Amino acid sequence: MDWFSKAFLKSSLAWFGIGTTLGAVMSTWPNATMYRTAHFHMNLLGFVSMMIFGVAYHVIPRFVGHPLHRRRLAEAHWWVANIALAILSTGFMLMPTIGARAFPVQAVGGTLSAVGAYLFIYNIWRTLDGPKILRRVQQQKQPSSLPLLQRD
Ligand code: HEM
Ligand code: HEM
Repeated sequence: MDWFSKAFLKSSLAWFGIGTTLGAVMSTWPNATMYRTAHFHMNLLGFVSMMIFGVAYHVIPRFVGHPLHRRRLAEAHWWVANIALAILSTGFMLMPTIGARAFPVQAVGGTLSAVGAYLFIYNIWRTLDGPKILRRVQQQKQPSSLPLLQRD
């Protein structure tokens, strides 16, 4: 397994631990429900999304039979996603107490989280399409003169 797949799975578990701990705090101390936005983004962007990223980077190349389009982008994605979520959660935690002054923190974390998502979308999209050379070979194997039934 590539290090970034394993790292996504482990960071997903770590975010799950942090997110559910905050959930437990919120359910025992109702004042803490002001942190619910941080709580559910830790669980949804942290636990759920990162579990999906880790599994997808491992499984999708095997499903389609081509290597991942760009390993470097997946490596960068792990760093971007985790740093971004740490900043975004900090912004969400600060918002109820310091108000609009927390906005830049939330904005930086939110923008970086979106950048991470774009890296994933691009890399998986291109992996599904496969390498250009393979697509060309497949096209050559299936000239347009063949009956329609024999084509994809
Ligand atoms: C030990 C596990 C968990 C506990 C104790 C917990 C507890 C809580 C509490 C106390 C609230 C605040 C409810 C309120 O505002 O009155 C909340 C909100 C929320 N939690 Fe959790 N939670 C847990 C796990 C999760 C997980 C795993 C997810 C998602 C994958 C999640 C998603 C949400 C969402 C979306 C809200 C916001 C609901 C809303 O604002 O309407 N929680 N949770
Ligand atoms: C780039 C990633 C994301 C960013 C920057 C982001 C940002 C935000 C912001 C700023 C809010 C409003 C919070 C507030 O009311 O103070 C919000 C709400 C919410 N987000 Fe996200 N989010 C992201 C991804 C996600 C994902 C992946 C999920 C679910 C899988 C999700 C689920 C929710 C939910 C359920 C709400 C609450 C809606 C409501 O109660 O009105 N978010 N998000």
